[in-house]
Amino acid sequence: MENKAFKALVAREGEDKTFTRAIETKNIEDLPEGDVVIKVLYTSVNYKDALSASGNRGVTRNFPHTPGIDAAGTVEEDASGKFSPGDEVLVTGYDLGMNTSGGLAEYVRVPAGWVVKLPQGLTLKESMIYGTAGFTAALSVTKLLGAGVKPEDGEVLVTGASGGVGSIAMRILAKIGYNVVAAAGLMDEAEFSEYEKTLKDLGASRVIPAEEVNDTSGKLMFKGIWPNAVDTVGGNVLATVIKSIAYGGVVTTCGNAAGHELDINVYPFILRGVSLLGVDSVECPMEPRLQVWEKLSGEWKLDNLEDMLTEVTLDGVEERIQLLLNKQSKGRTLVKIQ
Ligand SMILES: NC(=O)c1ccc[n+]([C@@H]2O[C@H](COP(=O)([O-])OP(=O)(O)OC[C@H]3O[C@@H](n4cnc5c(N)ncnc54)[C@H](OP(=O)(O)O)[C@@H]3O)[C@@H](O)[C@H]2O)c1
Repeated sequence: MENKAFKALVAREGEDKTFTRAIETKNIEDLPEGDVVIKVLYTSVNYKDALSASGNRGVTRNFPHTPGIDAAGTVEEDASGKFSPGDEVLVTGYDLGMNTSGGLAEYVRVPAGWVVKLPQGLTLKESMIYGTAGFTAALSVTKLLGAGVKPEDGEVLVTGASGGVGSIAMRILAKIGYNVVAAAGLMDEAEFSEYEKTLKDLGASRVIPAEEVNDTSGKLMFKGIWPNAVDTVGGNVLATVIKSIAYGGVVTTCGNAAGHELDINVYPFILRGVSLLGVDSVECPMEPRLQVWEKLSGEWKLDNLEDMLTEVTLDGVEERIQLLLNKQSKGRTLVKIQ
């Protein structure tokens, strides 16, 4: 492919070790080796992108770097022969946006094994409204269902319900008939009641303040009040949830926004038979990956996908990164690239 110039967000480390971001011009030949060159039309901003963009070495080792763990667009060329020019495709996870130049750019180049053909029933835009967050939410729900959790088993608690993964998990569960209790970490009373209404409109049957699932007493177990839960924040919230799950309940875990440490003991597992199920969207193999996208584009497709959505162009990404880092982001951020 000819060596075109294109725009990309680039995060750089300054001499004072602080990180700044700017829109710069890159060339196709700057992109890493790979089979498929994709012209990116849409991407999104996830918490992990905010970490990469701000120099978190657990996510991105080397700078300057273009973040963006999601990308959707059209194939320009594919050296593997699996895709044809013009095919509509998406990529989420693998190494995209971590140590491989990411989707916050007009072009990406990736291995063919990372690329998913856009499922029927979704537009490129809709696929990125979901993005990694929606995919992870659907994986969490898949795990819960795979463990035999049924709507008649009672409420499912969803933590981080105002975030990308949490809000979509809550909405999918509500759509397929579950009673969802949303734990939302908020603000003053007026804001809470306004936000409670938003979350209920999106499908939550009840909304509780996140502090109710963030116990610091050090107790080994609490009353088993939640039949099952989808946790998206980790840390002490996840520990509190595990200690508060009812007999035989299941908890999925995917996130570390509230911390990566898990201060827990064996009693919920050995006295109540609680199961903790891990969710990983990054290395999820292709077969289950395609099955999850099929659900997201079909049976589980959300009716009002644009609710809780902020749409920006590359210029607006900086503000969204700051909101994510300051834990003030709500719902999803879609980025229209071209
Ligand atoms: N395992 C995977 O494959 C995978 C994939 C995608 C994302 N993730 C992880 O999942 C988590 C959520 O991702 P996201 O994109 O949805 O992020 P997000 O949009 O920033 O949402 C995270 C939510 O967590 C809650 N939260 C943040 N800090 C908290 C704290 N200190 N204590 C309690 N709650 C807190 C907030 O919701 P409330 O205000 O409602 O409490 C926030 O909206 C992140 O840790 C991300 O890295 C993992």
